[in-house]
Amino acid sequence: MPTTRHGLPGTTLERHIMDRQPDAPQATGELTRLLQQLNLAAKIIGSRVSRAGLAGMLGLTGDVNVQGERVQKLDEYANQTIVRVIEAGGYCCVMGSEEVAEPIPIPDPYPKGRYVLQFDPLDGSGNIDINASIGTIFSIHRRKSPAGEAGVLSDLLQPGRDIVAAGYIVYGSSNMFVYSAGDGVHGFTYDPGVGEFFLSHNDIRIPERGSTYSINEGNYHKWTPEVRRWVDWVKRADEGKKAYSLRYIGAMVADLHRTLLRGGIFAYPADLKNTHGKLRLLYEASPMAFVIEHAGGAASTGTGRVLDVEPTALHQRTPVFIGSKLDVEDAVRVMG
Ligand code: AHG
Ligand code: MN
Ligand code: MN
Repeated sequence: MPTTRHGLPGTTLERHIMDRQPDAPQATGELTRLLQQLNLAAKIIGSRVSRAGLAGMLGLTGDVNVQGERVQKLDEYANQTIVRVIEAGGYCCVMGSEEVAEPIPIPDPYPKGRYVLQFDPLDGSGNIDINASIGTIFSIHRRKSPAGEAGVLSDLLQPGRDIVAAGYIVYGSSNMFVYSAGDGVHGFTYDPGVGEFFLSHNDIRIPERGSTYSINEGNYHKWTPEVRRWVDWVKRADEGKKAYSLRYIGAMVADLHRTLLRGGIFAYPADLKNTHGKLRLLYEASPMAFVIEHAGGAASTGTGRVLDVEPTALHQRTPVFIGSKLDVEDAVRVMG
């Protein structure tokens, strides 16, 4: 996969980012280099994920994070890796992480750059100890505060429609880096022998409609009647509509990676326990919505476009219905 038909090297992620100059027309090259730093962070985290069992990285740190969840060692490792790589890089003025309560400043003497990075360092942490797929999610905005100074909270509280680039890395049977800088969605598969991500999925388009729904159906009795109505409807053959199959890995990145390639819908609605849904707007829902929309799909909160939600708090949650355009439209329509 990483080589051409003749066995010659294919396009590396590094080369792809450089050739596309995602920050054109300003073309300072800063966004390009920030994406390259994320490429490096992805390699470091991916390498540690694949050796986790050997490196004593399985299990819990004993801490509880800002979301009230028990922190896995790999969550902490992935978080620290991204912070260290990016803070020294010079292109960000502030960062936001699912694992950190407050905005993450860029310490002196590092320069405060033009961009703002938000990330979920390790998504699907519950899968770490069972060798199932996990991921990293990121999004990049331009700063709003004055150039050269430290970034502030309002730099982080920007709607998804203003994202300039977003993507995810899935650590699975192979590792993949998938990103969009507003010019299509492109996927790169890691070749561990070479130590590079190579272009394997150029200009990914999500099918208009799929045949699977992806949701934690164990929450059925905590859902609203509207959500139950849609799930009852989606899995039933009806008036020319086929019955959908259920697929649920339990890591948003992995469930949405499948949805991106195969079509279908992934949802995490609000329920009695998670009254605003479970997934975090800034670290999970918005970046994935940006990728899926740029591949031709859709992402709704159930009442509006995910990318149009105006964030008011760093760790705010949102319901999500995301995937193939027609499947998301159906969900919104059936829920009424
Ligand atoms: P994280 O590991 O970053 O906290 O995210 C887990 C999220 C998401 O990846 C997944 O879709 C969802 O939690 C699964 O939740 P349930 O276990 O409630 O189904
Ligand atoms: Mn997550
Ligand atoms: Mn996480």
